[in-house]
Amino acid sequence: MITGKELRSKFLQFFKDRGHAIIPSASLIPENDPTVLFTTAGMHPLTPYLLGQNHPMGRRLADVQKCVRTIDIDEVGDASHLTFFEMLGNWSLGDYFKEQSIKWSYEFLTDEKYLGIAPEKLSVTVFCGDADAPRDEQSAKLWLECGIKEDHIYYLPKKNNWWGPAGITGPCGSDTEIFYDTGKDDCSPECSPACDCGKWLEIWNNVFMEYNKNADGSFSPLAQCNVDTGMGLERAVCVLNGLKSVYETDLFADAVDCICKLANVEYGKDKDTTRAIRIIADHIRTAVFLLGDRLGITPSNVDQGYVLRRIIRRAVRYAMQLGIDKSGIDQIAVVYLNQYQDVYPELKENREKVIDELSREQERFGKTLVSGEKEFHKITDKLESKIIDGKNAFRLYDTFGFPIELTEELAHEKGLSVDVEAFKACYAEHQTKSQIGSEQHFKGGLQDNSEATSKLHTATHLLQAALRKILGDEVKQKGSNITAERLRFDFSFHRPMTPEEVAEAQRLVNDAIERKIPVIFEEMPIEEAREKGAMGLFGDKYGEIVKVYTIGDVSMEMCGGPHATNTGELGEFVITKEQSSSSGVRRIKAELH
Ligand code: ALA
Repeated sequence: MITGKELRSKFLQFFKDRGHAIIPSASLIPENDPTVLFTTAGMHPLTPYLLGQNHPMGRRLADVQKCVRTIDIDEVGDASHLTFFEMLGNWSLGDYFKEQSIKWSYEFLTDEKYLGIAPEKLSVTVFCGDADAPRDEQSAKLWLECGIKEDHIYYLPKKNNWWGPAGITGPCGSDTEIFYDTGKDDCSPECSPACDCGKWLEIWNNVFMEYNKNADGSFSPLAQCNVDTGMGLERAVCVLNGLKSVYETDLFADAVDCICKLANVEYGKDKDTTRAIRIIADHIRTAVFLLGDRLGITPSNVDQGYVLRRIIRRAVRYAMQLGIDKSGIDQIAVVYLNQYQDVYPELKENREKVIDELSREQERFGKTLVSGEKEFHKITDKLESKIIDGKNAFRLYDTFGFPIELTEELAHEKGLSVDVEAFKACYAEHQTKSQIGSEQHFKGGLQDNSEATSKLHTATHLLQAALRKILGDEVKQKGSNITAERLRFDFSFHRPMTPEEVAEAQRLVNDAIERKIPVIFEEMPIEEAREKGAMGLFGDKYGEIVKVYTIGDVSMEMCGGPHATNTGELGEFVITKEQSSSSGVRRIKAELH
């Protein structure tokens, strides 16, 4: 039996012994990538370094990275899907490449000193080549040299053997994936690791990041050849111990035990109860990590906060089905806080906040959940078709706090569907009426281009320019988060700003607003943008052609937009807070009145 803790430390020690610096997990909230809501892979926070920037810890790195992926949230409840997981990874930033990477992976997996997996239990896939990149015969040869048999090596297309970029553009490349054979022997002769019949379980992915994906979909070579690997901790522990589900690993043992005791049920006995236990175990863990993050978020109706709200409310609903009340959910959260606080010290620091926020959200939802479910059944009992219309779905959202996905899930359980488009229309109409305007992310994806956020985007550019003028070039954007109500701007600066400096920044922004300066938008090659002195916040990430927004002599920045067309539209700019975000990073919150 290998535990999660043992695998973490064996992995990190192995790479430490081979010249890798062990770096801490980055935040779950991406600090420099507005195109995604959460950190989804170990490489994600390392993007600038994969693109060529020098990393202060050198060219060989390894870590355990907290990740959140919500794309498969509906699958959670089966044996393997999770919304939060830990990813073990090692990186070469333009240092070693395929040969060293493959040899070390093989050594770590098969050597008795480390994981000691029998080589015949392993199969690997390599990229079969296409118009963008050649067939990866070198990796296949290296695996053969290690001792993998020829018939355990599969050539597969981009769909299977290409990874990245994490956002829309950025570093990516062909990969070689390592699979463990569970021994299932009733498969067809065509069965390969590309098949999801359950015979093959992926345990490690080695990505050879040689390309940058550009905004137009093309690939250009990176300045350096990188290695990016990822091993999902929970899945690896599951496979290595021959277990059927990640929820049976020691990483979930205490939480599952706690849930079973609270609900007086047994894990693995009947399908529906087991699914509910898994959903509660997964979602509460994700909520604990999101609330307890260094850049911790709180439940809300926008962006990451909306996803968190959905996750908590879904967990609460399943918990109630099993007869677990609010204090029960708090107990499950405490199990995780205790279990993970040594690996992730931020959970210790934010312990009270996690419990408080979780309690508050439960209270908010608890008040309306029972009456909302009653209302739901009333609506569906009266239905003449199999579709719940937008108006009713919106009423469940607005009056009872049901995220649209929850209504969809309840509908699905009854063999019904929801008119989501009509729901969105009601939502938009309501917003216009109540003048809130908002940045809503349905299914975590919709780009918001509302007027309110466009103005705040423009105000953010003005603010950055003002800060650089007052505080100097040390100021660089570290993160930006905009809702319909406010902007939040994180920037590097070594000390708190004085009240005078804050007032001066506010004055400079309002000055630019009063001057009614047009906001000019141009597309140009990245080199030209640089030559013109545009501020580039995301390195080469945008690819060849970039969007540049110029605000008179005040600001020139590469940016995806959207923006106001004239600063005169913005209204009065008010800084509401200047505070610490993390070491060496300050945070300003501001509004337009
Ligand atoms: N970035 C690669 C993955 O997530 C290693 O699979």
